[in-house]
Amino acid sequence: MNESDCSPIQSYEPVFLRLFRIYRQAGYDIRINLNPAFFAGWGDSLFCMLYKDGKPLSTGGGGISLSELNFFESLRSALPLSSIFVIGNSGGWSTLALALLWPEARVAAIDCGLMEKPNPLFEVFDFDRHQGGMPSDFGIVLTNDLARAHHLDVQVVQGMSPQDLPHVIPSACPAPPQLVFIDGGHSNEQVIKDFDGLQRLVDPNCIFIFHDVVNWHMEKGFLHCCEVVGRKGHILWRTSSGMAILLPDTASVAVREVVDAFSESEQKLREFKRRAPRRRMVSIIEKLPENSILGKLKTAIKWINAHLPRLHRH
Ligand SMILES: C[S@@+](CC[C@H](N)C(=O)[O-])C[C@H]1O[C@@H](n2cnc3c(N)ncnc32)[C@H](O)[C@@H]1O
Repeated sequence: MNESDCSPIQSYEPVFLRLFRIYRQAGYDIRINLNPAFFAGWGDSLFCMLYKDGKPLSTGGGGISLSELNFFESLRSALPLSSIFVIGNSGGWSTLALALLWPEARVAAIDCGLMEKPNPLFEVFDFDRHQGGMPSDFGIVLTNDLARAHHLDVQVVQGMSPQDLPHVIPSACPAPPQLVFIDGGHSNEQVIKDFDGLQRLVDPNCIFIFHDVVNWHMEKGFLHCCEVVGRKGHILWRTSSGMAILLPDTASVAVREVVDAFSESEQKLREFKRRAPRRRMVSIIEKLPENSILGKLKTAIKWINAHLPRLHRH
């Protein structure tokens, strides 16, 4: 073996590490990709939350998860782009991720900014969170500042979708967007409004990616968008939030391969759904202490299982 055989793979740094460093250097910490099973099933623990001074920061909503970064990173090698648009910027996690992945593209984003008063439920139960007093454009300014500091071609504009799309897109995008990431208002009605509002402003072969479709029960809105353009969409089951994608007929084989890799067959989904409750019960029983009544039952089931085949044979 010569020296070059054992040298490490050079030059490519995963987008997660680059993003992580950008926020860390600016004094923000990140919480992401914690397994919900370890935290009372708290699904949000998969998504990105910015922290400042040890406290979670409300920037408008959680950022995309690690598996979703992985999806975009996989798509990147299959898809050259020069113009990308994001609805829903929050603290800029996905906007900056897209800009890192497609450095040759302009990434423009729209966000209405922090509109609501702090949630009183959070005030009562989630007491270690930064509350109130945040300027409404906090996440917008933060994203634009970070992009400037890292020479990323990003422009985040404060505005409301869909009303402001007709003037924001032509002024912030050098060309009609070829990829749009929809992650603004989380309702079926809003997703349809966003999609309708984009129609005459994007490239005819635009790819639409919708965040949180399964998580936030927005399948109906997504299906409606697919019907409007008369094409079949795909739910990306192997992404944490159940993102969805609507491809143009011209999508390349390479892009379709990525979509396929992050989807799941209907048959396997059905089977998994059917087995999941029983499988969950088994794992609960598995963890019971041996000396409890149910623990003894577990030992008995294991014994029967181990001896049954022998009983059958004789
Ligand atoms: C879930 S967060 C976006 C997270 C972001 N894409 C990321 O991955 O970091 C949703 C954002 O959409 C914004 N938003 C909600 N409704 C909107 C609308 N109609 N127009 C523009 N922005 C909107 C909110 O202010 C919030 O910041």
